[in-house]
Amino acid sequence: MIRFRDISHEYDSGKGGRILEGISFSIEQGECVGLTGPSGCGKSTLALIGAGHLAPSSGEVTVNGERTTGRPGRHVFLIHQESDLFPWLRVGRQIAFALNGTCRYTVAELVSLVKLTGFEGYYPNQLSGGMRKRLALARALAINPKLLILDESFGSLDQELKASLFRDLKEIWALTGTTILLITHDAGDLENFVQREIRLTSQKPTRIQEIVTLPIGQTR
Ligand SMILES: Nc1ncnc2c1ncn2[C@@H]1O[C@H](COP(=O)(O)OP(=O)(O)OP(=O)(O)O)[C@@H](O)[C@H]1O
Ligand SMILES: [Mg+2]
Repeated sequence: MIRFRDISHEYDSGKGGRILEGISFSIEQGECVGLTGPSGCGKSTLALIGAGHLAPSSGEVTVNGERTTGRPGRHVFLIHQESDLFPWLRVGRQIAFALNGTCRYTVAELVSLVKLTGFEGYYPNQLSGGMRKRLALARALAINPKLLILDESFGSLDQELKASLFRDLKEIWALTGTTILLITHDAGDLENFVQREIRLTSQKPTRIQEIVTLPIGQTR
């Protein structure tokens, strides 16, 4: 279980004001949870805190009881708004490089899960935008994190491509049981997908407005 406990944050020792205030929630293993809120409310800040890239002003993050606050590692992996692939590594090597001993899939299986079979020898710049997103996803699955955070990962793509990637992600989640936190400013992305939606407030500092259990939340 991943717990965000009473997270508050302000950048630059408070000059810009408090961004997040008293954020607490937990995610069970195998769950797919959405995190929504208006632009600028602090979703990416919370993602960075979750992944240990940013230490919150107060509060803590724990993974199965172990404190991971401010410590980036393989427990929580974040796919950014713009994915950061290695330009000099071909698809297959890119995934092999990330492969963790605990991952139960082979490189070929991961390639197939994200529908990139046949493109193993391609460099990232030879792939389309959607394919690069798929590669970033395969690489994240290879790391086999306890929690995978997707921060507007498909945001820059057109509506149709975005919808098809969400369908694939849902399939991958159902197959692999990866625990996912899906961040988006567009709650429509989460329809028929997540089991719970954590809604953040728009007024500063940002708090949790409500946590909604979705009636048609997919179960595996
Ligand atoms: N490194 C930083 N230093 C100072 N302020 C920052 C920094 N990063 C973000 N902020 C501020 O923190 C607030 C929250 O930003 P954040 O990127 O977390 O929002 P968001 O909800 O992810 O927005 P979006 O939906 O547009 O991605 C904003 O007011 C932003 O200006
Ligand atoms: Mg953001």
